Amino acid sequence: MSEPQVITDENVAQAVDAALAAIGAANDSAELRAARTAHTGEASPLARLNGALRSVPNDQKAALGKLVGQARGRVTQALAAREGEVLIAEETARLAAESIDVTAVPTRWRGGARHPISLLMDKMSDIFIGMGWEVAEGPELENEWFNFDAMNFDEDHPARAMQDTFFVEPVDSHLVLRTHTSPVQIRSLLGRELPVYVVAPGRVFRTDELDATHTPVFSQLEAIAIDKGLTMAHLRGTLEHLARSLFGEGAQIRLRPNFFPFTEPSAEMDVWQPNAKGGARWVEWGGCGMVNANVLRAAGIDPDVYQGFAFGVGIERTLQFRNDMNDMRDMVEGDIRFSQQFGMVV
Ligand code: PHE
Repeated sequence: MSEPQVITDENVAQAVDAALAAIGAANDSAELRAARTAHTGEASPLARLNGALRSVPNDQKAALGKLVGQARGRVTQALAAREGEVLIAEETARLAAESIDVTAVPTRWRGGARHPISLLMDKMSDIFIGMGWEVAEGPELENEWFNFDAMNFDEDHPARAMQDTFFVEPVDSHLVLRTHTSPVQIRSLLGRELPVYVVAPGRVFRTDELDATHTPVFSQLEAIAIDKGLTMAHLRGTLEHLARSLFGEGAQIRLRPNFFPFTEPSAEMDVWQPNAKGGARWVEWGGCGMVNANVLRAAGIDPDVYQGFAFGVGIERTLQFRNDMNDMRDMVEGDIRFSQQFGMVV
């Protein structure tokens, strides 16, 4: 307990003045809490004056009690009033700090978007997954054997040059940047039990100049099915399903004779695009055929027991005519605005 003080008008007035000054100067609830402790707490002058009441003579108790009681009352009232003001000020400041200027110009956060090529590749793969096919991937830097020899290209076959190959040094490494995703088909045959139904989406490379309809790095989706008794009719049905899934119910497939070393017979494939912007039309779409017996033999499969079909389409080309795009360069330049036009849906 602190020393009691002598109760005089002066002492009481001094204690009250000091308390009121401190309360008036308190600008936030922490300062007000400090003022309350200093001027009404146990060690405060007013508490000590109150304590002194115990030892005053009985005949002065009423008068001094009233004096001290009124003094404490004033201080308590001043505290309550100031507390109200401080709380309102603090609340106002908090609201101001948290307020949102709805007229302010926002800093734009641009969400990314998946590239339309990836989206289309996924969409096409999904169509095959829906038919129970598997999706397979393989290396972009490929052994020449997988890219050409296993695909029945003769060593000096002009098609090796026809495909405008990027050969990788040293030449005797026999590595190339794969010119098609067909090597994934061979890898799939070697690594799986028959029957095999596999699509291989992926990036491929050819020494083309970049222009409105060519790019040296592009994407393909190739498919191979090996089973007992597969015919061109299965090939055609599969292509028609793919075409209708991508271009609508009115889509059709047309096959024209062609040559590929890895298929026999081989065909060039056109698609009837019913919803094309300038009106329905035939568009050259890809290559296809029945898997050449030599390719089956290279994968250790007996062509008298198993047959199969294969086809390949370019993803950039598909995107170009399906979504009515003029310039393939837009697809490779990486401008985010190009991807954003497609959002997450192709
Ligand atoms: N691999 C061929 C190409 O890239 C496409 C194709 C695949 C053709 C399968 C026929 C069968 O040109």
